[in-house]
Amino acid sequence: MRRPMVAGNWKMHGTRASVAELIEGLANLALPGGVDVAVFPPSLHVSLVVDCLEGQSISVGAQNCAPQAGQGALTGEVSSTQLADAGCKFVLVGHSERRQIMGESNEVLNRKFEAAQAAGLIPILCIGETLEEREAGKTLEVVGQQLGSIIEELGIGAFVNAVIAYEPVWAIGTGLTASPEQAQEVHAAIRAQLKKENSEVAQGVRLLYGGSVKAANAVELFGMPDIDGGLIGGASLNADEFGAIIRAAGN
Ligand code: PGA
Repeated sequence: MRRPMVAGNWKMHGTRASVAELIEGLANLALPGGVDVAVFPPSLHVSLVVDCLEGQSISVGAQNCAPQAGQGALTGEVSSTQLADAGCKFVLVGHSERRQIMGESNEVLNRKFEAAQAAGLIPILCIGETLEEREAGKTLEVVGQQLGSIIEELGIGAFVNAVIAYEPVWAIGTGLTASPEQAQEVHAAIRAQLKKENSEVAQGVRLLYGGSVKAANAVELFGMPDIDGGLIGGASLNADEFGAIIRAAGN
């Protein structure tokens, strides 16, 4: 049985004051056992969040890492090694905002994924199609290529200790959500692609759905057989809403 997971991607939100308030709200939530919960603050606030969540059953992750582990001359970057040292357990790799706005290619993302694992972090690989690609009937092809790039470069074994998040770009921050059936179709295809390489790995890997998940639609989405939880953006900035989504994953 795969253990459900709910991850909160705070994106470029939060001041020291608002982060402290959000953490206080999270600390007061009654969380169900059996669900892994993680929050992803901007890297600037990672240490603050790690300190404030000490003793809580909520993990901390980063939204991005450098394409190489360790330390070195790479101005402006934060490495997976530094994030692990600061108390992170996870790191997002290939969020669509980084692919599209920051121009990150599959090649760079392969290196980030590898750097994350080299430092002992669990990468959450984000993949998903644009509206144009969906309307052109290319959803499974696009998602398959994004996933295939990591499989080809790093091998199926890379997914023994990784999470995948399917996030249709057209559903991120738009209020449009993939229907549970649309999401399930892609999740099943992702698992089938992994299964071609190794069925045990395919059965074990957690596939999260992301894109305008709220308490109101979480139960239906998380009820689908290949959806093992969610990657939550906007709704994770509200502790009560985030808590309700976590409870939905626990059902
Ligand atoms: P959203 O973002 O929940 O605000 O749509 C999801 C994400 O980008 O991870």
